[in-house]
Amino acid sequence: MTTLTKESGAPTSADTDAFLSVRDLRVQFKTEDGIVKAVDGLTFDLERGKTLGIVGESGSGKSVTNLTILGLHNPQFSTIDGEILLDGKELITARESELEKLRGNKMAMIFQDPLTALSPYYTVGRQLSEPYIKHTGASKKEAKDRAVQMLEKVGIPQPKARFDDYPHQFSGGMRQRAMIAMALMCDPDLLIADEPTTALDVTVQAQILDLLKDLQQEFGTAIIFITHDLGVISNMADDLLVMYAGRAVERGSVKEVLHTPKHPYTWGLLSSMPRLDSDIHQALTPIPGSPPSLLTPPSGCPFHPRCAFKSEVPGTACTDERPPLAEGRAAACHLTAEQRQTIFIDQIQPRLR
Ligand SMILES: Nc1ncnc2c1ncn2[C@@H]1O[C@H](COP(=O)(O)OP(=O)(O)OP(=O)(O)O)[C@@H](O)[C@H]1O
Ligand code: SF4
Ligand SMILES: [Mg+2]
Repeated sequence: MTTLTKESGAPTSADTDAFLSVRDLRVQFKTEDGIVKAVDGLTFDLERGKTLGIVGESGSGKSVTNLTILGLHNPQFSTIDGEILLDGKELITARESELEKLRGNKMAMIFQDPLTALSPYYTVGRQLSEPYIKHTGASKKEAKDRAVQMLEKVGIPQPKARFDDYPHQFSGGMRQRAMIAMALMCDPDLLIADEPTTALDVTVQAQILDLLKDLQQEFGTAIIFITHDLGVISNMADDLLVMYAGRAVERGSVKEVLHTPKHPYTWGLLSSMPRLDSDIHQALTPIPGSPPSLLTPPSGCPFHPRCAFKSEVPGTACTDERPPLAEGRAAACHLTAEQRQTIFIDQIQPRLR
């Protein structure tokens, strides 16, 4: 594993005792075209019983971050550096056998596409109960009872009868729910939900979100929640991380980030997404340009080629100097706090109403 240069001043895990602590995470992929810097110096914390929302345009590194936490990248094609501590255990250097154990009962993921997680060759019931038996030592009967109970919880009708069905006998929405049941079988301490309800209709989506909240209350589960839906984020998340080009550009409580965003990228993102309480006639303003290639990310602030406010910053800081992201409520941008406030009140806030 190559050691990459650590960003100077980046905090280390010694600075935190959070349940999940990610420090200066870097993930690079070797491809035919060169090295893709998919995650580039990402730091965040998550407490037990809390939900961290992650938003950002397609390709900003949300899924790669979470797959890295789960240890699901092939080391042959990727280089991972930094620290990921789960309940004090370092995951980047952990052996595959340890990760496999953790993936069963300590952390689980709900994928956007259920076919990523469900095998077509085994019955849904078997896919739910086998990992449970393996991780808890439960009997076959206990595992079946638990699986039927979970299928019922996620709203599968006649769960006892459906236990012996194969995934192809389920509708798309039911497969998604079965996968959610699978992720919840062992009451994971960390649940990563990557666009978990996008494919479901609104009623089922609301049921699943309620279920996740109930489970979180009952078991103190920590949840990472990725979605493009601001309504879902504001309903589910406590804190919010905004990602751009493999970096965190803004973080804060969900209320702070959605109501008084500080970073020009977040301004653009929020102006381009339907508001929580808007009707469908609301005018949306897309962010000009497109996300950068991560083979050759821009120098300085990665958002500078698209930023309408870089002329407010004197000199060449935006193009030359990487803006750091401070701890706590923060934005990685060279604008001063006063400049940001003036721009926000005069130009951005009216757009977000
Ligand atoms: N195995 C891989 N090999 C090479 N590049 C990869 C690999 N996996 C992801 N990438 C690249 O890493 C970047 C981040 O991808 P990622 O899937 O994390 O984006 P995302 O934020 O989840 O986007 P979306 O909202 O579309 O799901 C993208 O440029 C993607 O092409
Ligand atoms: S650092 Fe400069 S380019 Fe980057 S978001 Fe702030 S003003 Fe825009
Ligand atoms: Mg993704």
